[in-house]
Amino acid sequence: MADISLIGFMGCGKSSVGKELSKLLPSMEYIDLDSYIEAMTGRTIPEIFDSEGEEAFRNMEKAALEDIFMTGGLTGTSHILSLGGGTVMTDACRRMIRRNTTCFYLKASVDTLVRNLETWPGDRPMLKSGKSLRSRVEELMAVRGPVYEKTAHHTINVDGDDYLAAAVDIVTMI
Ligand code: S3P
Repeated sequence: MADISLIGFMGCGKSSVGKELSKLLPSMEYIDLDSYIEAMTGRTIPEIFDSEGEEAFRNMEKAALEDIFMTGGLTGTSHILSLGGGTVMTDACRRMIRRNTTCFYLKASVDTLVRNLETWPGDRPMLKSGKSLRSRVEELMAVRGPVYEKTAHHTINVDGDDYLAAAVDIVTMI
């Protein structure tokens, strides 16, 4: 089976849907790209942003994807990939994702994203801008929204936060 990738803005539920999906498709290996990079580097994502900056992190996302697709190609294992909110903003990553996976955009409104990010703030370097959370989400979504749309093969609306239903929808589309 081809790899499945989940893309979308921070807080849209990529990891939650990915976990539901991996229960429905137990033969596939679940990979959260941020966790993969943390294991690869021995550092947390905020540490990487602090010490080396965003560009270095984007290069690590690209290296991690090359590694995953290469390994999968060699072993035949297929993956469910939960990507970072900004992964597809790197052209090379977007091309790899489009070519090697069936890609699903988990689409959420700004209201949903802000609510989820307020409820589970986490430590997200891209949201530390000095602006209000809503302005920052709007600003990034204006640029990223069209890129999510053009990268994905399918779009799933996740405004209802029903991650199991989203996973079931995905299974019917692969
Ligand atoms: C980022 C999203 C994060 C993580 C990093 C950068 C982004 O992942 O990759 O902090 O640029 O949107 P999540 O979307 O899983 O929060």
